[in-house]
Amino acid sequence: MSDPSTGSGHRLPAVVRHDDLPSRITIYEVGARDGLQNEKTAIDTGVKADLITRLLDAGLSPVEATSFVHPKWVPQLADAKQLMEELVDRLGDRARELPVLVPNEKGLDRALELGLRHIAVFGSATETFANKNLNQTFDGQWAMFEPTMTRAKDANMTVRGYLSMCFGDPWEGQVEIAKVVEAGKRLLDLGADELSLGDTIGVATAGHVKALIKAFEEEGVPTERLALHFHDTYGQALANTLAGLQCGVTTYDASAGGLGGCPYAKSATGNLATEDLLWMLDGLGIEHGVDLDKVADTSSWLAGHLGRPSPSAVVRALRS
Ligand code: HMG
Ligand code: MG
Repeated sequence: MSDPSTGSGHRLPAVVRHDDLPSRITIYEVGARDGLQNEKTAIDTGVKADLITRLLDAGLSPVEATSFVHPKWVPQLADAKQLMEELVDRLGDRARELPVLVPNEKGLDRALELGLRHIAVFGSATETFANKNLNQTFDGQWAMFEPTMTRAKDANMTVRGYLSMCFGDPWEGQVEIAKVVEAGKRLLDLGADELSLGDTIGVATAGHVKALIKAFEEEGVPTERLALHFHDTYGQALANTLAGLQCGVTTYDASAGGLGGCPYAKSATGNLATEDLLWMLDGLGIEHGVDLDKVADTSSWLAGHLGRPSPSAVVRALRS
C-alpha cells in the first residue's frame, strides 16, 4: 500500500488492491462530444480542438471528438467537419483515429469524406427516445443503422454501438432488462464491435447494473464486448462503476470535469467525471494510463471558457 501523503502534484488516495477486480481498464473519453453537446453557448472550434489535444496529451484514448448529426438537432456540434479538419492539421493521421457519432448514412458519408476510421451509432432501448433522439420508431432505428453499419464495416471502420435508456426512461419509466438485452443484441448482430450501455438519465443503481450485465452474459454476450456509460444525475455513477468492475467490465465512458447531458433526454445531466473515476481507480490500484493532474487542469481551463466551475468533486477538491 502506498503512503497517501507521498506523491507530488496532487493528493493521492491510499492504494488498496483487490484481486477480484480487473487490473487494467480503458477509459473512453466523451467530454468533447457528450460533455459539450448540451452547452447552449457556441464554443469556438479552436477551443474544442485544444480540449481534445489536451485530453490526448493526458493519456486518454479513445477520445470521442464530435457528432456527424443534423446541425439543427445539435447546433453545438455543427462544426464537426471544421473541427476534424483542424485536428488533422494539428495531429495528422492520429486525428482520423478519433471516434465520432454517426446516426445514419448521411453522417457516415461525412465521416468517410474525412477518412475517419471509427464511428459510433446510437440506438435506444425504448420507443419514445428512439423517436425523440433519432426521429425514428424503435424498429425504424435498426433499419437506419443496418446500411450505415454494413457500409462502415465494408470500409474497415470499427463501429461502437451505444444503447440509451438501459436503466430507465423519463417518458416510459422502468425499462425491462429483457428488452434492453434484446436491443443490445440487435446492435451487436448488426456488427457493433462494442456495446456501450447508457444510463442516459442517471437512474441506475449498483444491483441493477449487475443484473443487466449478468442478463447479457446469460444471452451469450461476454463482458469484453460491453462498455458502461453512466450519467451522474443521482450521484450513483461511481457506485455503478464499481459494480461493473466487480462483474469484470473493463471499458468505462467518462467525461472530463463531469460535463454532459443529452439535449433530447429530459433530466439528463453530466456524465461520470473522468477525474472522479481516476481517483477511484488509483485507490483500487487499477491501471488506466491517464495523468489525473493533466485532466483536472484541462477541466479547470475549460470551466474558465464555460464560465462556471466543474461539477466534478475531484476537480473541486484538487483545485481547492
Ligand atoms: P431527420 O430530420 O429525420 O432526418 O433527422 P432526415 O433523414 O429526414 O433528413 C432531413 C434532412 O437532414 C435532410 O436534408 C438530410 O440530408 C439531413 P435536406 O434534404 O432537408 O436538406 N440530414 C443530415 N445532415 C447532416 N448530418 C446527418 C444528417 N442526416 C440527415 N447525419 C437524424 C434524423 C438522425 C439526422 C436526427 O434525428 C439527428 O441528427 N439526431 C441526433 C440527436 C443527437 O445527436 N443526440 C445526442 C447524441 S445521443 C446521446 O447523447 C446518448 C449517448 O450519450 C448515450 C447515453 O447517454 O445514453 C450516446
Ligand atoms: Mg450520454
